[in-house]
Amino acid sequence: MSNTSLQKCPSPDMPEFAFIGRSNVGKSSLINMLTNHKKLAKTSSRPGKTQLINHFLINETWYLVDLPGYGYAKVSKSHRNKFQAYITDYIINRPNLYCLFVLIDARHEAQKIDMEFIEWLGEKQIPFVLVFTKSDKLSKNQVSSNVANYKKHLKKSWEELPPILLSSAETGLGKEDILRFIAETEPNLNNSD
Ligand code: GTP
Ligand code: MG
Repeated sequence: MSNTSLQKCPSPDMPEFAFIGRSNVGKSSLINMLTNHKKLAKTSSRPGKTQLINHFLINETWYLVDLPGYGYAKVSKSHRNKFQAYITDYIINRPNLYCLFVLIDARHEAQKIDMEFIEWLGEKQIPFVLVFTKSDKLSKNQVSSNVANYKKHLKKSWEELPPILLSSAETGLGKEDILRFIAETEPNLNNSD
């Protein structure tokens, strides 16, 4: 189901886990990787592909949610404000949102827009996990060094760091970790296949 408002989301009677992050960071690709579907969530090399709140029902027992990206410069300011309103409404008020996966491109240094978003999640006390995406595009050493820098940056304002995972939609890295995290958060889910 795809829509642009909290009211139109499916009734909140199953646990759900949502994916957010800057445009083009790889949210839709990660959902496809986790579900073994190449085309479940629509992906594109052009930023701004996902524009709606997309619910995917998994094994009839829980939802994965693909959200639009933030920080897409080409959309108009009024569209951006509208986007913000329905996404923030969803994040704050969705009662069955167990955890938000905030995706960060492993290749880039800490960006202001991500930091502001993470700060906001802290203020609103929304549980989140950081996932560093596209790690196949860097060497292992580069990924570790970028993640270490990111942690250093986060420690300036966070006493305790959120869980941090690495992923690649290309190689499948992170699939086990992310599904395990979800299963541990809600032990009654059926995500065995
Ligand atoms: P929006 O919906 O526009 O906000 O983007 P998104 O975050 O959903 O990104 P999407 O999954 O559409 O991926 C954007 C581009 O990055 C596509 O060209 C993907 O093929 C590529 N991509 C995504 N994840 C990975 C990854 O782990 N590794 C590599 N090499 N490319 C990736
Ligand atoms: Mg997308």
